[in-house]
Amino acid sequence: MPQLGLGVWQADDEETEEIVRFALDDAGYRSIDTATDYGNEAGVGRGLAASGVDRDDVFITTKLWNAEHGRVNTLAAVDTSLSLLGLDHLDLYLIHWPLVGHEERLVETWATMIEIQGAGKARSIGVSNFEPHHLDLLAAHTDVVPAVNQVELHPLLQQRELRSYCAERGITVEAWSPLGGSGRGWGGEPHTNQLLGNPTLAVIAEKHGKSIAQVIIRWHLQSGIVVIPKSSRTARVAQNAEVFDFALDDEDMAVINGLDAGRRFGAHPDELNFGAPAS
Ligand SMILES: NC(=O)c1ccc[n+]([C@@H]2O[C@H](COP(=O)([O-])OP(=O)(O)OC[C@H]3O[C@@H](n4cnc5c(N)ncnc54)[C@H](OP(=O)(O)O)[C@@H]3O)[C@@H](O)[C@H]2O)c1
Repeated sequence: MPQLGLGVWQADDEETEEIVRFALDDAGYRSIDTATDYGNEAGVGRGLAASGVDRDDVFITTKLWNAEHGRVNTLAAVDTSLSLLGLDHLDLYLIHWPLVGHEERLVETWATMIEIQGAGKARSIGVSNFEPHHLDLLAAHTDVVPAVNQVELHPLLQQRELRSYCAERGITVEAWSPLGGSGRGWGGEPHTNQLLGNPTLAVIAEKHGKSIAQVIIRWHLQSGIVVIPKSSRTARVAQNAEVFDFALDDEDMAVINGLDAGRRFGAHPDELNFGAPAS
């Protein structure tokens, strides 16, 4: 799995097509993160098809939406996603969100994800927004460990305990809202981005002749985290990938590690059930 990818939440279907094509052809991305709920899987598929990059060289992730849990719905949902994307398999299929108070259904959904992987429709399967107790639940009922857990993670919310838990079990941690988000936290309250103007990060950025966004992305990379910054602007998409020509030193890393404030901009997975089935 490439450690850097492009996120496309809040890009509409039309703009997604061109951003994905640009990211693949002109900015060197080889990984795209979408979801059924973003409404732009078709745009991702068209962008990939329009690019000059081979499908097999690109890592495509999409996610099962909350309303589609349960075996029958999940089997139908993956086929819909594949059809919209114009693909015969996904590289990674994630359960988007754990349902609060629907443990049995969550286990059934995970068992179905395993079935989907067995049928060759997803090379890897994983989860998103799972806390250790959700992962323990899956482990108690199945012997397939999620390959990935995609969670809110950025310098203000470094998720150290969850990262250790996942590392011990071989689960790759992927950061969403890696730059601190757009101001519309996933399931959370509207807010102003608190990282892209951060004065501490500005000093480090100036020292390296890079932008704050590039410093944050570099911090994720050097911390061993998979990172999927989103932008709908080609110049930023390109800029966010120009992060392999410099390195943060130990002092920079320590300063950024010190910014952790447990500050979450999206919802806590234990506190919100959105789009979930009633029963
Ligand atoms: N699994 C989940 O529950 C979940 C939840 C949220 C997000 N995600 C995934 O994670 C991806 C990234 O998270 P996110 O979209 O919430 O936030 P993000 O990547 O942290 O930040 C995106 C925001 O930063 C701006 N931006 C991007 N590059 C910039 C740069 N170089 N300089 C200045 N501003 C820049 C973007 O604006 P412009 O677009 O105007 O450039 C946008 O407002 C999503 O797109 C999605 O794929 C997953």
